[in-house]
Amino acid sequence: MPSPTSPPRTRLAQIQQHISPSTSGTATMATPFVASIVPQAPEDPLFGLMAAYKADTSPQKVDLGIGAYRGDDAKPWVLPVVKKADDLIRSDPELNHEYAPIAGLAPLTSASQKLMLGGDSPAIKENRVTSLQTVSGTGAVHLGALFLSKFYRTVYPSTAIYVSNPTWANHAQIITNVHLPVATYPYWSPKTRGLDIDGMLSALESAPARSVILLHVCAHNPTGVDPTQEQWKQIAEVMKRKAHFPFFDCAYQGFASGDLARDAWAVRYFVDLGFELVIAQSFAKNFGLYGQRAGAFHYVSAPAAEAQDTTKRVASQLAILQRSEISNPPIYGARIVAKVLNDPGLFAEWEENLREMSGRIISMRNALRGKLEELGTPGTWNHVTDQIGMFSFTGLNEKQVGLLRSEAHIYMTKNGRISMAGLNTKNVEYVARAIDKVVRATQ
Ligand SMILES: Cc1ncc(COP(=O)(O)O)c(C=O)c1O
Repeated sequence: MPSPTSPPRTRLAQIQQHISPSTSGTATMATPFVASIVPQAPEDPLFGLMAAYKADTSPQKVDLGIGAYRGDDAKPWVLPVVKKADDLIRSDPELNHEYAPIAGLAPLTSASQKLMLGGDSPAIKENRVTSLQTVSGTGAVHLGALFLSKFYRTVYPSTAIYVSNPTWANHAQIITNVHLPVATYPYWSPKTRGLDIDGMLSALESAPARSVILLHVCAHNPTGVDPTQEQWKQIAEVMKRKAHFPFFDCAYQGFASGDLARDAWAVRYFVDLGFELVIAQSFAKNFGLYGQRAGAFHYVSAPAAEAQDTTKRVASQLAILQRSEISNPPIYGARIVAKVLNDPGLFAEWEENLREMSGRIISMRNALRGKLEELGTPGTWNHVTDQIGMFSFTGLNEKQVGLLRSEAHIYMTKNGRISMAGLNTKNVEYVARAIDKVVRATQ
């Protein structure tokens, strides 16, 4: 008797005949996904970094690659207000797990509009805003890019989306996945370790009229460099003159300065100027809800007689795109965010939690700069405290990054970006001394 794992010979012969090339006219089952069609993709650099950090057995190792907040104990931090909201939701006897509407939970989308645009925004009052709950910020960027690819491109076929150089690593692939060309504008000046405002403005000036310009609202990833309000005004002036279309990506509201309104200033300014625009909003960082995938996408129409009608039509098409992609957005993280945003007591507590996170990051910036200056590390280090948010572009080169990893077990991306959240009162001096050593050794 054949064993369950060894089929009878006749059956084997049948299968073999079925899958091997045949001259009898039978179709073959050779995979179409051969290496020339589906080549092995390179490993995601951040995931590679994480794996290498995990495998390192040194007790001194430091992870400066992570894009998530850590407390002073180097551990993930569940925001106390999130715990509270979670308890309230779970103990609600009416809780069920039904589908969310296609556009998401209304208490979330309406509160997130106000959070982004301000409670007294004329755009909201005039029904010029439509919002959908998305699969966090990534899903919002995707939905925006898909919408533009389907509709904006029909009117302006040669449109590209301009992203900053450098930008969040995922932007280009999200945009090209929906068949939109990506172009770049200068952003980072290695010389000043700050914003290349002249380069940026002249690129916006020479881009074809009505280009889509993707802008980080605050805490630019990866550089940590944001335009000042004066510089935002210059950017808006060129964009208005060239009729460019703003696409805002807001992944760090409240996380950058600790002040929600201040971090959203650029968006509100553009809306006040009457731009038609879109916004991708993430609640991953400012709520510490990384894995819950809570976010929102907003379309704001320009003030005009037909604005409400345009907004309604846009909303209807966005709903169709959403339906075909995810049907309904995930519900649990969105419930937590909605609970906090709609309860004044919890909201105030959230602001307190935000100040704690941003405050710790700012104090780590001060500590790192202070130690480097104390050690007399060659170069200038003011950029560490001039930059804002989760990341700092240190200016360390690839060789120095490699040495920090091999000699000191300190992990960061090859471009010299460090996550400030990986620093704490116990390791900041160790990191400063290691940077000092490699900078001197490679001079
Ligand atoms: C600039 C920027 N946009 C969007 C995102 C999206 O994040 P998520 O999909 O986790 O909300 C990130 C996350 O790192 C980011 O840095």
